[in-house]
Parts: sequence; structure tokens; C-alpha cells
Amino acid sequence: LIHLLSIEGLPRQVIHHILDTAETFLSVNDREVKKVPLLRGKSVFNLFFENSTRTRTTFEIAAKRLSADVLNLDIARSSTAKGESLLDTIANLSAMHADMFVVRHSESGAPYLIAQHCAPHVHVVNAGDGRHAHPTQGLLDMYTIRHYKKDFTGLTVAIVGDIVHSRVARSDIHALTTLGVAEVRVVGPKTLVPGDLKEMGVRVCHDMKEGIRDADVVIMLRLQNERMSGALLPSAGEFFKNFGLTPEKLAHAKPDAIVMHPGPINRGVEIDSAVADGKQSVILPQVTFGIAVRMAVMSIIAGNEA
Ligand code: CP
Repeated sequence: LIHLLSIEGLPRQVIHHILDTAETFLSVNDREVKKVPLLRGKSVFNLFFENSTRTRTTFEIAAKRLSADVLNLDIARSSTAKGESLLDTIANLSAMHADMFVVRHSESGAPYLIAQHCAPHVHVVNAGDGRHAHPTQGLLDMYTIRHYKKDFTGLTVAIVGDIVHSRVARSDIHALTTLGVAEVRVVGPKTLVPGDLKEMGVRVCHDMKEGIRDADVVIMLRLQNERMSGALLPSAGEFFKNFGLTPEKLAHAKPDAIVMHPGPINRGVEIDSAVADGKQSVILPQVTFGIAVRMAVMSIIAGNEA
């Protein structure tokens, strides 16, 4: 593995190897992440052309725990604003001896373009491109599910909300089907569920109660307002009434179901506070696991080099 651009096409054993490696970085209480020298002497450049709280920060923490030098390019103050192209920016950062680019971009495919044009020794990790893919979120979601449910086979996983604009949904679906869960359901209004999912072996539901009935895992997604035209955008109140996860709706899932969300959460839109802060929520452990999973990804793609 030279780059991590998508989960699509990653074999099951590679996904498990990443999750197993992540596990070695977490202490027994799953709260602390050990510092190791695996990327000592390497430079990791965080290039976030789109906003982020969790992904950017946990990549920085992960790189530091691997003993790498980390540079966060402030895109808003960079010469991108003066018209410098993406590839010229990459060429100049490469000349500063970058070893890894962690890239988030609103354009689907931007990390692929960088991977095609950067020097052969440079690794690229996709930190979310448009509505296409968010592979490290997908992997940390799989880590979370494996942590709480132990085994993927036999599980019913419901992914609820704005599916059509969600790179997380796409990455989760690829991972879950590769790992062999019993059923993946996507749940949302017709306008927010793409038509091609049935071909991916996914069950589509437009009714929330039916969609989460007897689910082991419920993954909630926010409305991606920034990627929607006005006509598509449902009102927050209407969306909450039909698809917002309340304790009453959650009662249709299995009693030990876990509730996940990649964040940021919009309380009262796709999730009620009583659920987000409730005992079935594993939203904040997802964030902690993200550090170890990003350490695993970076150390696997770049940790064995001299
Ligand atoms: N889950 C996620 O990608 O969150 P951020 O946008 O804050 O990085």
C-alpha cells in the first residue's frame, strides 16, 4: 500500500491488518495512544482545502504520536488565494521534502490527481474528497464496530440520513460489504438516497422505523447543506420528524444497538441530544479510535522505509 485513496478494492485481510495495527497503539483503557518512533525523520503535510475539526486534528495527533514532523498548511492564507494551481502547490511543497500529503478537498478525485503527479517516494492519504470517499473515517467506523460488536458477520448496519452527498456512507458501504456483514441498509428520503445502491448489495429504506428495525449499528449522517441546491434541501424540522434519531425511534433497533456519527452532529436535525449523549452513543469513542486508526494507516504506508 503506497497511498490510501479509497476503501473500494481494499481486500478484507488488509482492512483487518489496519484495524489490528490500530489496536496495538491503544492502551488497555482505550483512551491513551502510545508514542512510537515509526515515522521519525518523516514530514507529514496536512493539506485541508475544506474545513475540518476531527480529521485534521486527529491526523496531526497521530503523526506526532508516530514521531513525524507535521506541517498544517493554512490554505486560507496560502498562495492558493493568489491563483496558484493545486499541482503547482504540490510541486512546491514536494520541494520542501514532504514525505506524506494528507489531503481534504471539495473536488472528488483531487487526492488521486496529487498521487499521480507527486514524487514516487511521497505518500498520499485521502482525508475526504467531495462526495466520493473518506477512507480513514470508514476504517475508524469499522474499528468502532469491531470494538463493540467483536465480529462483523451477522450484523445489521443501518446508515441514515443524507446518503447521496456522503463520502462517509460510500466508504462505510464498501468496508461493510467487504467485511461481510449480514445486511447494510441505507435509510433516507428519496431525494437523498442515490439510485445505484441496490447494485452494491445494499437495502434501501425510505421509512425510518423499517430502516432501523432490529439493527445492531445505527450510523447517523448530517444533511450536507454545503453540497445541496435549494430544491433538494429539506427543512430541518421536517427532516427531524421523519429521520431524526430520537429515543422513541431508536427503540426499534436492538436493545444493545450502538449509535455512531462521523460528526459534526447537528442536534435536533438528524439526532436528538438524548440519543447523541445517551448510553448507546459511541460518537466520542469514534473520535479517539480515529487517532489510532490514522496512526495505523500512516505507519503501514510509510513506516518501513529507511
Ligand atoms: N468526520 C469528519 O470528517 O469530521 P471533520 O469534518 O470535522 O473532519
